[in-house]
Amino acid sequence: MKALQIVSYGEIKDSLVFNELSKPAVQSNDVLIEVKAAAINPIDKSIILGNLQGMLPIPLPSTSAYDVSGIVLEKGDGVSNFEIGDLVYSRVPQEQMGTLAEYVAVDSAAVSKKPGNISFEEAASIPLAGLTAFQSLEAAGIKKDDRVLIHAGSGGVGSLAIQYAKAQGAFVYTTTSTTNLAWVKALGADRVIDYKTEDYMSIAKDVDIVFDTLGQNYSLESFEVVKQGGIVISVVGPLDEASAKMLGMSDYKLPEALAKASSDRKADYKFILMHPNGAHLNEIKSLIEDEKIKPIIDKVYPFSESVEAFTHLATGRAKGKIVVKVS
Ligand SMILES: NC(=O)c1ccc[n+]([C@@H]2O[C@H](COP(=O)([O-])OP(=O)(O)OC[C@H]3O[C@@H](n4cnc5c(N)ncnc54)[C@H](OP(=O)(O)O)[C@@H]3O)[C@@H](O)[C@H]2O)c1
Repeated sequence: MKALQIVSYGEIKDSLVFNELSKPAVQSNDVLIEVKAAAINPIDKSIILGNLQGMLPIPLPSTSAYDVSGIVLEKGDGVSNFEIGDLVYSRVPQEQMGTLAEYVAVDSAAVSKKPGNISFEEAASIPLAGLTAFQSLEAAGIKKDDRVLIHAGSGGVGSLAIQYAKAQGAFVYTTTSTTNLAWVKALGADRVIDYKTEDYMSIAKDVDIVFDTLGQNYSLESFEVVKQGGIVISVVGPLDEASAKMLGMSDYKLPEALAKASSDRKADYKFILMHPNGAHLNEIKSLIEDEKIKPIIDKVYPFSESVEAFTHLATGRAKGKIVVKVS
């Protein structure tokens, strides 16, 4: 089968090569998916650049990407919840990374039937970003009438988080740049803040939840806008102690300034590492079929142009998701 592999760490165009591989072997709990579409995410770019070698050692060459939609072609003898021919989608587990290929074997616990009302390309755009939005806002305990600030509403994660928060009955503030204002508003956000011309901190005040998808100064600033008793959920800022422990860093301490801001504001800080989960994808499937969430795709690239897809992702300006049509 044809697969797009990372052969070295460094510049995107120098690091990715199409290789011919044999079909992956199917373990007892796996399904073999004939890949129809894959989506790429900032983590895929960070892996290629070599920025995650310490935290996420990956043997090279390795096939790139985690998001997939496709058709079940084979299944292991321990799989009872999928049949050959099922249309599915998944964020594959770390050890099965490699959806930019004609076939991928995936632990069935990470797989869900694909939403029936969307295309393979749209379905592939959902898993990693959708699970991140879902798991982050659930960890925040989101509920009706909560006031939520979601940074980068035009990003892959933000565009789904807005829709998930609205589906839970929250009031949503979001930030984006001038060119994206109209379509981000159309996702249901109550107040879209143009970060080019407006100061989000003077508009989103005393919110229950900040969803920090930007990191850097935004993590600390979150404590200026979250209310006492509220929560800051970050997927990009400093690790919290629980996630550091999960990654084997038992001596890790939250940076002092963040710990102080959290304590002064009496508001929690949590870092979320999304995890593959077929049951969560199944919940997202229902929200998509109920038209509470729709996929947002910036561009679909043919498989042969996967490197161009990564170059687009690396601009950091994607409007929703970047997808690769594999077959
Ligand atoms: N911890 C985890 O498990 C986890 C999981 C998923 C993602 N992440 C991380 O979360 C981050 C977001 O992921 P993503 O997939 O949503 O990225 P993305 O789709 O590449 O984000 C691009 C978007 O960010 C917006 N943006 C950039 N700077 C901004 C700013 N200062 N204010 C508001 N919007 C801004 C851009 O809009 P404009 O062009 O309008 O600026 C663009 O639409 C990434 O760093 C990713 O690595 C972490």
